[in-house]
Amino acid sequence: MAGERERAVEVLRRASRVVALTGAGMSQESGVPTFRDALTGLWSRYDPMELATPDAFRRNPARVFGWYLSRWRGARTVSPHAGHVALARLEGAFGDFAVVTQNVDGLHRRAGSREIVELHGCLEAFRCFDGGHSFDIDRIEQLAPPEDAEVEPPACDTCGSPIRPGVVWFGETLPAGAVERAWRLVQQSDVVLVIGTSAVVYPAAELPGVALAAGAEVIEINPQETPLTPRATLTWRATAAAALPQLADALGVR
Ligand code: APR
Repeated sequence: MAGERERAVEVLRRASRVVALTGAGMSQESGVPTFRDALTGLWSRYDPMELATPDAFRRNPARVFGWYLSRWRGARTVSPHAGHVALARLEGAFGDFAVVTQNVDGLHRRAGSREIVELHGCLEAFRCFDGGHSFDIDRIEQLAPPEDAEVEPPACDTCGSPIRPGVVWFGETLPAGAVERAWRLVQQSDVVLVIGTSAVVYPAAELPGVALAAGAEVIEINPQETPLTPRATLTWRATAAAALPQLADALGVR
């Protein structure tokens, strides 16, 4: 690991504009299961790809809404780990530093990161299915049962359509503003840290290639190999909570 860490620090010392692109592996050490892990409990009977689609919601709104209440409650019961905090610390080490995340758990914000692009939305934002009218998160708290369960979504006060989570489902387009900002940040970056993503879900998985095409260096931090590995400038076989604090310490940030 020391060789990989030293090489990563050497690349970062030359950089002034850095983007951290994170995926579910970034939150794994906080206790948030990744997507390609087996689901736990009630949801082990369902494929998440079957729960995270508009059709799944239309077919069985109570099952999908209940799964997201369970994920929302789970995100509230976990905490950011030293890797999330290290990314927040790294904001002070470069001219520009931003986090572009596929995660919807809000842990980067809770760790103190300020420049965050949430490509796939956020579990804290509920809205109605048809009109996109927002739904007060305090009312979600009252709805969330203490354990995993199917919960009939409430109807929107404005248009009557069912309330859904404010996350991007398979087959849906990403928020336009987030895409525009993420692509611009990556195209202007010197280095992109790609942390904890299997790099198989598009369009987010395009971003490392966009960086490389623009002349940036890409550092992958992941205990496993991914389709990005052969193209990355360098790969550090490590977990987020182990590697990122070492980077922040080596770069001398508090
Ligand atoms: N530290 C770093 N990486 C880790 C860790 C860890 N502690 N634990 C697991 N990983 C890596 C795995 O090796 C894997 O490559 O994190 C990656 C997790 O991959 P996925 O579960 O596919 O998550 P992600 O890449 O974020 O999925 C992308 O798919 O399901 C949709 O919208 C959902 O945003 C998600 C998107």
